[in-house]
Amino acid sequence: MAPKILVIPGSLRTGSHNVRLAALVTKELALAEADVTRISLADYALPLYDGDLETKSGAPANAVQLKKMLAVHHGVFIVTPEYNASVPPLLKNAIDWISRVRERGEAPLAVFKRRPFALGAASPGGFGGMRSLLALRQVLEIGCGALVIPEQVTVARAEAAFDDMDNLKDEHVTATLKTAVRALIEAAGQHQEIAR
Ligand SMILES: Cc1cc2nc3c(=O)[nH]c(=O)nc-3n(C[C@H](O)[C@H](O)[C@H](O)COP(=O)(O)O)c2cc1C
Repeated sequence: MAPKILVIPGSLRTGSHNVRLAALVTKELALAEADVTRISLADYALPLYDGDLETKSGAPANAVQLKKMLAVHHGVFIVTPEYNASVPPLLKNAIDWISRVRERGEAPLAVFKRRPFALGAASPGGFGGMRSLLALRQVLEIGCGALVIPEQVTVARAEAAFDDMDNLKDEHVTATLKTAVRALIEAAGQHQEIAR
């Protein structure tokens, strides 16, 4: 069975460079014969994490749903903007809420543990969102215990980076994207074997 991969863009903006990159990642994953699903965090609206709200009402239903989405996929590709050299609040808040959802008897962060993630970013700036990915890598690996593959995609000068067919103009970035896609599928396949 093809590994199931979840693609999560970290932007809701109309015309988002990262949603565009996430669409390309989704296409490449499908071409590489992964069973791929792309979601929008707009469909999983969440309040800002608040410990009092959690104590009163538990984790919101959308956080529980997002955790279920992670659980039924063998790998995750996150494509995110960079905000002030770090992870945008939309994405960090979603991860924080997911990290608080626990079934009875389940170990903390079980849904993240050893689950493979790949990271990509697009930015109008020259770093291509690199610093956001460094921060996100810390959150996922050190904070949540996930396995973040070393290959990552950064698209600088994003407003001019795509052609009319929504492919990337730069061959090297395209090659990196394909390498990251292959590495994620391989890691997800191994995760699928272990989970069996
Ligand atoms: C609050 C804020 C902080 C930002 N900080 C950075 C930054 O540190 N580095 C960067 O490359 N771009 C930064 N940007 C610009 C974003 O990369 C740009 O808005 C990008 O288009 C957002 O991604 P999207 O097109 O997928 O929505 C920032 C934008 C906002 C709104």
